[in-house]
Amino acid sequence: MNIISLLASPHGLKGNTAGLLRLVLQGAEAEGARTEVVILRGDTVLPCRGCNVCHKKGRCAQKDGFEPLKEKILAADGLVLASPNYIFNVSAQLKAFMDRCCGVVHCMSFWGKYGASVVTSGGGDEEPITEYMNHFLITTGAVPVGAARANMSTVPEGGFTDEVKESARALGKRLVEAWREAAVPAQVERRRSEFSGRMRALVAYRKEEWPYEYQYWKERTGA
Ligand SMILES: Cc1cc2nc3c(=O)[nH]c(=O)nc-3n(C[C@H](O)[C@H](O)[C@H](O)COP(=O)(O)O)c2cc1C
Repeated sequence: MNIISLLASPHGLKGNTAGLLRLVLQGAEAEGARTEVVILRGDTVLPCRGCNVCHKKGRCAQKDGFEPLKEKILAADGLVLASPNYIFNVSAQLKAFMDRCCGVVHCMSFWGKYGASVVTSGGGDEEPITEYMNHFLITTGAVPVGAARANMSTVPEGGFTDEVKESARALGKRLVEAWREAAVPAQVERRRSEFSGRMRALVAYRKEEWPYEYQYWKERTGA
């Protein structure tokens, strides 16, 4: 299994989120996965301009790091999103990537991939953020297998507790196992299938404006 992780913190590999992500990836690597971490500091994937070119042509018009990153993810089996809690949400660096995935979401182009989310906070509220990140993964077509979270105000001086370490490594292991078994939990399948119905209807409604996406769904569903 080949896993790409997006680490959306300006602290990069020295930050808290990187520390928690590393544990998740250790769990995945112990199961034989190959991993790569891409750091999003805000200068490689810029904010979406809302030009709608992705819907028309299947590619973003901005010439930055987004399209090469999208290709990398398309070639991978797994996608792990990692962000600090920035004012009760993902960092702007990760949100910029999510927004740039507007065409990916319309086509659910990451279908068949497996994912997970990682969040650290200064004082709490990680859970709704990982829920949001995993919801985003479902809307791209991917199957989230869970989340790793750490509130740094409860982390001892020496680093993460054994409990946090174990649960983060277990998440990495679960990611590889789910991919190997091609397992899709019933609840994820239901949400993914509902969302794909919505996207197909939306794209059909806008077929004149969004020819790439209309053609994409037509070919994929044979309809
Ligand atoms: C701009 C900014 C906003 C933050 N907002 C919150 C917040 O709303 N709640 C919280 O618990 N921690 C908040 N924090 C703290 C970070 O989430 C926390 O320090 C995190 O572990 C940093 O991860 P990193 O070292 O990977 O960047 C914020 C930090 C910054 C810089």
